[in-house]
Amino acid sequence: MTSKPLFVYLQRPDNGEWVTVGRYLRDAEGKLGKFQYAPSYLQAGLYWSIDPVNLPLIPGSEFMAHRYGGLHDILRDGCPDAWGKLLLQREYGLSTDTADVRYLELANNADSWGALAVGPGKKPSISKLASPRIAKLETLTKELLAIVERRPPVDASLRKRLIASPSLGGARPKATVRDGVEFWLVKPQLPTDTTDIPRLEHFTQQWGSASGLNFSPTVFHSISPTLSVVRSLRFDRKDDRRIMAISGASLLGAEYPGGGADASRWSYPRLSEELKRIGAPKEDCIELFRRMVFNAVIGNDDDHPRNHAVIFNYQENRWRLAPAFDVVPHPDETPTHLTLQLSLNRRDISKEAILADAVRFGFYDQHAAATHLTALLDRFYKSFEMVEHILNPSPELHKMMSQRLKENLQRLS
Ligand SMILES: Nc1ncnc2c1ncn2[C@@H]1O[C@H](COP(=O)(O)OP(=O)(O)O)[C@@H](O)[C@H]1O
Ligand SMILES: [Mg+2]
Repeated sequence: MTSKPLFVYLQRPDNGEWVTVGRYLRDAEGKLGKFQYAPSYLQAGLYWSIDPVNLPLIPGSEFMAHRYGGLHDILRDGCPDAWGKLLLQREYGLSTDTADVRYLELANNADSWGALAVGPGKKPSISKLASPRIAKLETLTKELLAIVERRPPVDASLRKRLIASPSLGGARPKATVRDGVEFWLVKPQLPTDTTDIPRLEHFTQQWGSASGLNFSPTVFHSISPTLSVVRSLRFDRKDDRRIMAISGASLLGAEYPGGGADASRWSYPRLSEELKRIGAPKEDCIELFRRMVFNAVIGNDDDHPRNHAVIFNYQENRWRLAPAFDVVPHPDETPTHLTLQLSLNRRDISKEAILADAVRFGFYDQHAAATHLTALLDRFYKSFEMVEHILNPSPELHKMMSQRLKENLQRLS
């Protein structure tokens, strides 16, 4: 291990203090990384594992990382993806093969996902970043588009703040805005979109909520006839507190992006078992089953391992499935398969695939799951009526979704 250590900080879920939770080192070839919990963290009796699947709290243990160029899964969760990487590549002139850990070091730790941050010092050092206020939403949306299109800044100081907060994942341009004690993830429509994606995302998130599922609240804004934006309430932030979060990719030990060769790990029933393993209640496994069926019905085949997450609920002192986010139907065609397996070796959108492994979600048997499925499909059908008005300004989207709902309900009934 030859690199300089990178220290990992955690905002304590009980009192909000920042502590150094561990230390990360990497070998010279950039293939292997090592993480160790800090003796001071263990001696203080702090008992939160930052990743209970891959980094259990075992005093003295050294955890090696093989994926992501030797970066541990939970640290990779705090790295930017395509969007943030693009910002950092432009800012620092990085090549496209730059290691993930380099992006982690360069991304300002003020807006990192979840409750972890990293830095070179033994003592926690967290940058202060004032997220733009909600009143700035319109300018911020235009600024994001100007960045995408490599145009000069609309608002130079805002541009600086956006470039300084590239750490959130995902491929689409995004930024965080603050509204009172709440933080919202903002995602605009892009010139390359074939349809009004923010409207479709908002509609779907509302549909999920109207069906009784736990979906992140969203708000839709139409800035101009060709520019819309959706914002999604951040479940990992509340005022000055950060909430511990782990991606589905980390829980599954599944590399994303990439990692396709290891597709057997990309699975809903496996994710359900990991939820159980880390102490989430049975209702979260059933909620996951419902989200799987919802994705099948709406045709969201972008349900990859990084579009699922868990968060730590301090009051309950346990991990819980995070609210659903980034649930967007395929805008051009009706998918026949999901990205995660619905049951062992099956990704096809069919009733058989949904029911084959239902016991792994906590159902007594397939019959009990089939009864649940029938009621669930009926609920999705009825709640569509409650939210379809959101699509009225886009008749083609409305037509596509009502048609898809009809066909998929037939297919799954
Ligand atoms: N409501 C939310 N609260 C907290 N984190 C979120 C929320 N929505 C998304 N994220 C995080 O931000 C990442 C990117 O957001 P996402 O909506 O998936 O963007 P994209 O459409 O670019 O994939 C997600 O993988 C997740 O880690
Ligand atoms: Mg996503």
